[in-house]
Amino acid sequence: MSQPSGQQARKIVVGVAGGIAAYKACHVVRDLKEHGDDVRVVPTESALNFVGAATFEALSGHPVATTVFDAVDQVQHVRVGQEADAIVIAPATADLIARLAIGRADDLLTATVLVATCPVIVVPAMHTEMWYNAATRENVSTLRRRGITVMEPAHGRLTGRDTGPGRLPDPEQIAELTRTVLDDQPIPHDWAGRKVLISAGGTQENIDPVRYIGNRSSGRQGYALAEIAAQRGAQVTLVVGNVVELPTPAGAEIVRVVSTAEMAEEMARRAPEMDVVIMAAAVADFRPDQVAGAKMKKGSRDETGLQTLHLVENPDILRTLVEARAAGEVPADTVIVGFAAETGDDTHSALDYATAKLARKGCDLLMCNEVGVGKVFGEKRNRGWLLARTADEDSPGVTEVVDGSKAVVAAQILRGVADLLTGDGR
Ligand code: CTP
Repeated sequence: MSQPSGQQARKIVVGVAGGIAAYKACHVVRDLKEHGDDVRVVPTESALNFVGAATFEALSGHPVATTVFDAVDQVQHVRVGQEADAIVIAPATADLIARLAIGRADDLLTATVLVATCPVIVVPAMHTEMWYNAATRENVSTLRRRGITVMEPAHGRLTGRDTGPGRLPDPEQIAELTRTVLDDQPIPHDWAGRKVLISAGGTQENIDPVRYIGNRSSGRQGYALAEIAAQRGAQVTLVVGNVVELPTPAGAEIVRVVSTAEMAEEMARRAPEMDVVIMAAAVADFRPDQVAGAKMKKGSRDETGLQTLHLVENPDILRTLVEARAAGEVPADTVIVGFAAETGDDTHSALDYATAKLARKGCDLLMCNEVGVGKVFGEKRNRGWLLARTADEDSPGVTEVVDGSKAVVAAQILRGVADLLTGDGR
């Protein structure tokens, strides 16, 4: 979504270090520009071995400089950093991260970071060995301690034959995280050692080999929660029903399911090891009592002229997880979060229905949003209220979740979760 008209474009510096993934920075620049931001690219000298200055200049609409001796009259080494609303460095090589960690200012990019007081997001891309090297680990910790957001690298194919963590996340994910930090606040890296289980997307119930009962869930909110939880340092497992094509959140393990029964089984099996369980999936409440082995033919109507489908109710996964916790099968301090897709009516508001749902489900937190055709489902933004269970079921703690991208909403929900977490993680 673009910024509201009349609002001044935010100034974002895209730093680019010399790695093969430098070409992906072009897409980051384009994504940020398309959302109305004013982007300036500051590459290192070696980045220009991979992508020419002309490309960055054409995409950003600003001249490109690499050293503090370019356009000296404009005092760029100070001005670019001072004026920035955010700096995102993608890709950041092991060498650049090392230079940032010791506070070097030996080119325009490092000088810009040293001057800046705005949020800085560092997006590493390097070989797995370099990422795991003790020197890099320490440098990354140093940057995080200073409040810099260091994005978790994606897993996958690296240059050459190797695979593992170290890949640059998708440009769309980088741009989205940058906007989240700008719109919301820096994401703390405080969940290392925590395990988070999230369901996302819609479950589907087969009618016959070609037809199913499904819903309009896109999976975006669950994926955004996984993304932010992973950026907080948690080990994330995402149990996914049907979703639109979405990039895998950094480092998350994806488990694919189709039906509610499959999702219920995967969630129940994993929940006992988790610190946090979030049911963001839109679960099909009913399934046909039997699945036809062959495609159902037209003309098999009953005596009233109707083609009848008999439905049976599916298990309530969220309630089952809460019951498992009460029975001691899931640790008592595991935080369980539900979602409530509600519509208000003449007698009750969406919030009233959500309050009743929180009591019915027994989870610790319930994110309530209003739904309807074209509202929230499939959209890229969300808003609502986060309800927290209290001793009095009729008056839960209510925190407004302000309108924002699904990543901004996810960051707000996870702050609510963080307030409830105890211990150091399992
Ligand atoms: N949920 C679940 N299992 C189901 C149905 C829903 O775990 N069979 C979870 C959803 O993932 C969500 C919460 O329960 O976290 C509320 O989902 P929602 O569809 O709003 O509620 P329902 O229980 O289906 O209640 P109703 O349709 O009656 O409002």
